[in-house]
Amino acid sequence: MKITLMLKQILALLKFLKMKFINSIKSKDIFDFKESYCDENTIISSLLRNTLKNYIKPPILDVGAGIGDISYRAFDDKKVIMIDVNNISKHDYPCRPTHFRRRADFFEFESKEQIKTLLISHTLQFIDNDIEMLNEKVKEIGPENIILIINTNDGFMKEVIEWTYENFDNPNPEVKINGFPEGYNLVKSQPFTATLKCNDFETLALQIAYLMLIEIDTMMATLISFLKRKLGTPTFEINQAVEIYKKA
Ligand SMILES: C[S@@+](CC[C@H](N)C(=O)[O-])C[C@H]1O[C@@H](n2cnc3c(N)ncnc32)[C@H](O)[C@@H]1O
Repeated sequence: MKITLMLKQILALLKFLKMKFINSIKSKDIFDFKESYCDENTIISSLLRNTLKNYIKPPILDVGAGIGDISYRAFDDKKVIMIDVNNISKHDYPCRPTHFRRRADFFEFESKEQIKTLLISHTLQFIDNDIEMLNEKVKEIGPENIILIINTNDGFMKEVIEWTYENFDNPNPEVKINGFPEGYNLVKSQPFTATLKCNDFETLALQIAYLMLIEIDTMMATLISFLKRKLGTPTFEINQAVEIYKKA
């Protein structure tokens, strides 16, 4: 009996350590991509702060806020609740006085006050496993507006996605989902182009693995040779859109 209990405890500890390990890798990958190699968040913040500001009503729920730099730069004077499954230290990434950070899973999130704007910036691929459940959760939160930021998956990104599907069984790139968000109408789509720029092809391959959510391991050399064949330098443009949905 005692041995079984001990084994169970060891297994639970291993599971906990594995989760911590996976989460820390994800955090590091996000930080590298956003801070060092891609300029998308600077463009997104500027669009939300200027061109699209009339669509942003507080309180805002920033789902999968990551390091929180979009809200920090775009909504400095607005109330924002930033949630993420990863623990982002407020010492490394400070919040505005009107911003609140919570470590929370979107599907478990509850708010005492009515959320008016839901921001889903490059988080859809992490929460779209069950579309019915996702639509239900959005309905429960009931925001007036949803701001969805996603890649349009054309240009070289389309080729990368095709390569990934040819070489991996279960990749999870960010794709637009028919039927989401249910009960909302698209009122504006603002296209923009970001640049992913690395110093070498190995770093670019790692960034692609992060974008496609694949374990690159033994396929690293194949991906690097694909990239070298297709690109002159370790850089390419990523077409994206800020889509604004209003409650029907
Ligand atoms: C690609 S990052 C996007 C970060 C940020 N929104 C941006 O655009 O810079 C996706 C984030 O979603 C978070 N995430 C994944 N699943 C989540 C969930 N179920 N609830 C809350 N956050 C989640 C991840 O930890 C990660 O920080």
